[in-house]
Amino acid sequence: MSEHHIAVTINGRLHQATVEGRQVLGDFLRVTAGLTGLHLGCEHGVCGACTIIVDGKAVRACLMLAAQADGTSITTVEGLAAPDGTLHPVQQALRDAHGLQCGFCTPGIVMTLAALMQAPAPATEETLLAAMSGHICRCTGYQGIRRAIRALTARPPGEPA
Ligand code: FES
Ligand code: FES
Repeated sequence: MSEHHIAVTINGRLHQATVEGRQVLGDFLRVTAGLTGLHLGCEHGVCGACTIIVDGKAVRACLMLAAQADGTSITTVEGLAAPDGTLHPVQQALRDAHGLQCGFCTPGIVMTLAALMQAPAPATEETLLAAMSGHICRCTGYQGIRRAIRALTARPPGEPA
């Protein structure tokens, strides 16, 4: 069984650990780093619940090994709000639009939307809606999620479309 020493920045803090070669990043974040905001549903890349941001891109933590995260910078849902507790705009939009019910799928959806909102190309309503095809919400909360996406991409009054 192979072991690997990894150093990974998680939500701005450096974590160092020795991990088994077979350990999945989602398990490492939840069990070793204690970041249980990340949810594991299908554990094979379908439901989207485990989505985190790795070096600026939305990644499914169930499809990446902890050893592969060595040297990366990771943001989980715990690291998204401002230090004073102010919610990230994506979190606020979902809250305002009642875009969640039980909340199991929510951290993954938040991280996918946040990654796209900070991408160099401006996110459009269509882009964000298309990205939701990679997330399964068992509570059928999609209408609220759609409202949140519409609010996120709405232009300020008077700004040309
Ligand atoms: S738990 Fe990773 S995609 Fe479902
Ligand atoms: S809010 Fe319950 S699974 Fe989406």
